[in-house]
Amino acid sequence: MNNTQIINSDVLWIGANDRRINLFENIFPLSNGVSYNSYIIRDKKIAILDTVDNNCGKQFMENIEFALEGKKPDYIIVNHMEPDHCAMLKDLLNKYPSAQVVANDKTIAFISQFFPTLADISYLTVKEGDTLSLGKHTLHFVMAPMVHWPEAMVTYDSYDKILYSADAFGTFGALNGNIFCDEAHFDMGEARRYYSNIVGKYGTQVQALLNKASALDIKTICPLHGPIWRKDLDIIIEKYKKWSTYEPEEKAVMIAYASMYGNTQSVANALAVQLAKNGIKKIVVYDISSTHFSYLVSECFRCSHIVIASPTYNNGIYPPTETFLHDIKALNVQNRTVGLIQNGSWAPVFTKLATEILKSMKDITIMENSVTIKSAIYDKNELENMAFEITKGIK
Ligand code: FEO
Repeated sequence: MNNTQIINSDVLWIGANDRRINLFENIFPLSNGVSYNSYIIRDKKIAILDTVDNNCGKQFMENIEFALEGKKPDYIIVNHMEPDHCAMLKDLLNKYPSAQVVANDKTIAFISQFFPTLADISYLTVKEGDTLSLGKHTLHFVMAPMVHWPEAMVTYDSYDKILYSADAFGTFGALNGNIFCDEAHFDMGEARRYYSNIVGKYGTQVQALLNKASALDIKTICPLHGPIWRKDLDIIIEKYKKWSTYEPEEKAVMIAYASMYGNTQSVANALAVQLAKNGIKKIVVYDISSTHFSYLVSECFRCSHIVIASPTYNNGIYPPTETFLHDIKALNVQNRTVGLIQNGSWAPVFTKLATEILKSMKDITIMENSVTIKSAIYDKNELENMAFEITKGIK
C-alpha cells in the first residue's frame, strides 16, 4: 500500500513510520515510535536517498514501487550507513540491480561489513564537494563525520535548495500524516532528547557541519527522522548552535535525586521548595532510579544548574546515580553549575566521589555549598545556602 508523501513536484517522501518499536537503538524509550525518512528525486535520472529499518521494509518497498511508476532508480545515495537507514539496501539492489550506489569511502567500507556480498559491486565514490547531476537537480555531497557515525554525509540539492541532513535535525516520534514541522506538532523536548543522546557527545563535529551548512542557501531541511523543516529554519538551527556549544538553553534548575527510603527525596523536595520561595520559576525534579537516563541527559542540555542528590552505597556511589554521572560525562555535558547533596548513615562518600567525576569533565563549576544528610537529618542552613547560591546564579 502506498504511504508516500509529496515534498514538491519532483521529490517524494518514501520512508516509513515505526510505532511497534519501543526502544530506539534498543536503549531509548519511544512513546510514539519513530520515522525512518527516505526520499526519492524524480528527474531525468532518479535518485533514492537512504532506505529504512528492516522493521518497515515491506512498506518501504511498496512506497518505492509506487514512486517509481514502473521506472528504475539510477542512484541510491547512502548518507548514513546505520541500519535504521540502510537495512533495506541489499533488498533494494536485489530488486533494482542496475541502480548505482553513491557513497563515500568510509560508507563503502561499512556497506561491505554489513553486507559482505555487496563488497565488490560498482560504487560511485564521492568525497567532499563532489556533485552529481540528475538533470535539473544537482546534488552536492558534504561530509559530516560523527554526525552521527564517522561515514555520515549530507546531500544538498542546489535546484530546490533542500538539505538532506541525515541524522542532523531529526527527532523521535512517528509522523502523523502531516510531514512538515509547520503543520505538525514539533516537540522540541523530544528533539533535544534525540540530539543530546544520539549526537550530544559530538558538539565539535556538529558545529563543523553547521559551519558548512551556513555557506549553503537552504530553504528546506529533510532529516532522516521526524518532520521536515521548510519554514522558520532558524528555530532548529539556533537550538543546534546552543546544544553543540553546550550552552545551557535556559537559566533553570534540574534536581536529580536517588533515594532508597525517601529521605534524600525529601531533602531534594525541600530544596525545590526553597528555590520556589526564592522566586525561581524554572525548577524540575526527577527521581534518577525511575527516570530513563535519556530524559535526564536531555534536561542537562537544557538547564544551567544541576543538583544531584544521592545516597552512598557499598562505600561508593548509589549505582543509578553513578550510571547517570557516567552518562553525562560520556555525552560531554559541560559548562554547567552542579551542586551535590549526599546521604550516608555512617560514612557518606558521594560528594567526594561525584566531585572526582565532575572534575574530570569540561567546564563544570561545582557549587561552593553542598548538603550532607545523615539518614534523615540535615542542616537547614546548608540547604538554604545552596538555594541562595543557585538563586544568585540564575537571577
Ligand atoms: Fe538514525 Fe545514526 O541513525
